[in-house]
This record gives sequence, C-alpha cells and structure tokens, in this order.
Amino acid sequence: MRMLRKSGVILLIVISISLLLSGCGSTSSGIEDGKLVVATDAAYAPMEYLDDEGNIVGLDIDIVKAIAEAVDIEVEFKNYGWEPLFSAVENEEVDFAVSSITITDERKESFDFSEPYFVANQLILVPADSQIETFEDLKGKKVAVQINTTGHEVVKGLLGKTSSDIVAPESMPLAITEMLNGNADAAVGDNTVVLEYVKNNPNVEVKTIEDDSFEKENYGLMVKKGNEEVVELLNEGIQEIKDSGKLQEIIDSYLK
Ligand code: ARG
Repeated sequence: MRMLRKSGVILLIVISISLLLSGCGSTSSGIEDGKLVVATDAAYAPMEYLDDEGNIVGLDIDIVKAIAEAVDIEVEFKNYGWEPLFSAVENEEVDFAVSSITITDERKESFDFSEPYFVANQLILVPADSQIETFEDLKGKKVAVQINTTGHEVVKGLLGKTSSDIVAPESMPLAITEMLNGNADAAVGDNTVVLEYVKNNPNVEVKTIEDDSFEKENYGLMVKKGNEEVVELLNEGIQEIKDSGKLQEIIDSYLK
C-alpha cells in the first residue's frame, strides 16, 4: 500500500515536470503534437485567398496540405496578412508561413526557408490604353506594389529606394486598386496573381507586360531562423510530393 502511494507520487512529479518542460519555449503547437500552425496572407488569389465561406484556400494551401499529408502531420492556417506574418514566425506564434514568399538573400538573414516549391516572376499590369511597353518605361511614372514584396524591391531598383512615385499599400488587391483609380500608372506583382486578376475581371480594361529583366523567383516555406526540425520535416514532404508528381498535379489544377 505504502509502495503504491509512493510510486503514485513519483509518477505525478514526473508528469508535472514533463508538462512544464514541454511548455517551455515552444508554441501552442509543434511537431510533438503532430500539428503545425501556419501563417498566411489570404489576399493573394489563386495562391492563398478566402473562399465564399471564409475558408483559407488556394494553390499554396493545397501544396502545404499535401506536404503535411506526406509527412503525417496536421496543419492549421491563420490569416495574418502580409507584414504581420513575418513577426508571427519570428515570435513563434506560428510554426511557419506560406504566402508565395520568395526566397531572397535579405530574408535569409532573418529567417530560414524550405527547398523551393514554385517558380515565379514579376509582371506589370497597366490600363489597356497605356503607352507603357517595358519595365524601363516605368521611369518617371507612379507604380503600385504590395509593400515589402520582391515587386517593391524591383521597383525601388528602378525608381529609387525612397521615391515618392512608389505607392505601396499593404495588400496586392489594394495595389491593383491604386492603379485602377489612377493613383498609379502601373502595378507590379507576382505573375500568377496578376494573371488571376485579369482572368477574374474580364470587364476591367487592363493588359499585362512581361520584361526580360525580371529574374526568376523561388517560393519557399518560411520558418524561424534555426528551426531545423520544422525545415527538415517540410523538405521531406516537399521531396515526396515532387517525386510522386503530386506537386505538379496541384500546380496544373490551378494554372492551365
Ligand atoms: N513573392 C513576393 C515576395 O515574396 C510576394 C508575395 C506576397 N504574398 C502574399 N500572399 N501577399 O515578396
């Protein structure tokens, strides 16, 4: 009887210590419970957006779901918006972010990335009757971009870092609206998203312009710097869905 009681007490102590330890320095979720929380900016159709019922859906979302299935974990998406998602990863409010995030040297100083899973490039959107034909033609013009995106960087490169000709709202739909309202002569953003806008708005008179000076950009999943455990798991899943053909299948189902 006394022995039983003693082992009961020891068991309780062991349980409380492990509970304490698992609560230390980790997010509300994690690999241990088989569930990862994912931040996104769901205003970026067809990559990540809200459907009519308010669910977070899209190409990126399907890719992450397929990766999660491949490595047998659950994922929960949270719509943070573009700029807040970087601090959400940094502060460990989430385990990683998916948001058509281009892997850049600058971002690699503060974050770690998975292997690339998608290739994109910038595209220019202008009113149908615009005289603009190349990226160079944007010199001296007003240009709308989503703030702190690679599109923003590219346009800063042309117009100057602090140029007042750059209009940079917090979302891509707002950047396109600035152009439609005449507050900007052009909008610059990721090709898939600009093309989706054109496709979904056949009555809006716009045209797109490609330019050879735009470099290929690789999208990656973004984790807190040093979080090797999550990067390795995501890479394992990415490799699996590349090998199985699932990744290409998802991409083709959105972009035909
Ligand atoms: N690929 C660009 C970048 O990394 C734009 C991504 C914006 N994504 C979004 N969901 N708003 O800067």
